[in-house]
Amino acid sequence: MTEPDIKKGLAGVVVDYTAISKVNPETNSLLYRGYPVQELAATQPLEAVAYLLWNGELPDAEQLAELRLTERAHRAIPDDVRTTIDLVPLDAHPMDEVRTAVSLIGARDLAGSGSVLDASGSPEQNLERSIRLFAVLPAIVAYGQRRRRGLEPVAPRDDLDYAANFLWMTFGEEADEVVVDAFNRSMILYAEHSFNASTFTARVITSTLSDLYSAVVGAIGALKGPLHGGANEAVLHIFDEIGSAENVGAWLDQALAEKRKIMGFGHRVYKRGDSRVPTMKAALDTLVEHYDRPEVAALYDALESEFVARKGIYPNLDYPSGPAYNLIGFDTLTFTPLFVAARVTGWTAHIMEQLTSNTLIRPLSEYNGPDERHIDGYVADTAALEVADRAEEAAG
Ligand code: CMC
Repeated sequence: MTEPDIKKGLAGVVVDYTAISKVNPETNSLLYRGYPVQELAATQPLEAVAYLLWNGELPDAEQLAELRLTERAHRAIPDDVRTTIDLVPLDAHPMDEVRTAVSLIGARDLAGSGSVLDASGSPEQNLERSIRLFAVLPAIVAYGQRRRRGLEPVAPRDDLDYAANFLWMTFGEEADEVVVDAFNRSMILYAEHSFNASTFTARVITSTLSDLYSAVVGAIGALKGPLHGGANEAVLHIFDEIGSAENVGAWLDQALAEKRKIMGFGHRVYKRGDSRVPTMKAALDTLVEHYDRPEVAALYDALESEFVARKGIYPNLDYPSGPAYNLIGFDTLTFTPLFVAARVTGWTAHIMEQLTSNTLIRPLSEYNGPDERHIDGYVADTAALEVADRAEEAAG
């Protein structure tokens, strides 16, 4: 018998076309709809990048104004969603809170919309749902951090752009321009990354013709894991463990002896460095200077150079974004929900793309369990035997 060609973790398997983004590990580049992500991060607000991901082109001034108007109109958390968030235990992970909130938003929106046959929605409905989720997620994430700190929620302000308003709702004060800019850049870098685990999860769910909200809820579940989005949170746990730059060598000796994965390093696709890291590292540097925290940069640089020297494995985006979010003042547990707020743009773009040329995603597996066996005394059901006979005949 020939051994099946199993691709564990689908590594290296190309499963479909996408026009949304291109990750090229050879040239270390990442393009969103053809534009280098670095260019977008340097010149655009996240709202414009969301428009690009959804529609294929950057918006003109009027289109951006229209998107912003809709986004600002849907920033507030509906009362019943807030009440439901309050039911999530305060010591639950905030990703569970975000997942629950999106699930309820979906149920509310789809209530009375008919049978499962209508679940997947029209392109217009899905674009509208995407914009509304994009608009409300910052309030959900900000509210989560505030309620864990025992603080009252802060209402959104419609005179602020997306990034500035996100920081306003989280901290209750207007952030400095340099902080807003670094935060906006991080969100653009997080917005999209082709067929990563959470996006693929969203596409798998969509391929069954389920609804957009179910696909986003599934994607949030996939993103929570520390091998994926949870790594930005995990990086800060590592920084806290190490303490300061001079401890890096001894800490790394022990971590590697224990065969620990060093969070924020390594990537399935990039093997010579993540194309998003230099841009995010530059944003981190501006924050280090702004908050006058050189010891953060010292720890960052020491761990990076030691780990690269020993293992030849480079940082991924979560490595600079973790300490950047810490400097801005986000709680460590809030980091992965920030990733959700950004990546919902990419997820929903992929959900809509999947629906334009859908095929059910259903791979095969090679069985390696026990040989066929039977329950003592069971009398075979003749209908099942007929099916087996038919299969045998067809196999010839
Ligand atoms: N620390 C220690 N060893 C590592 C690391 C790491 N961060 N990453 C890879 N390796 C080693 C791994 O142990 C393995 O060694 P060996 O061949 O001796 O068994 C080898 O490198 C290949 O690793 P792999 O896990 O088989 O590679 P992969 O392509 O399946 O995994 C990864 C990619 C991201 C899961 C892995 O690098 C990892 O676990 N990194 C830490 C978690 C992390 O930072 N995740 C964020 C990913 S990127 C952004 C995002 O999605 O948020």
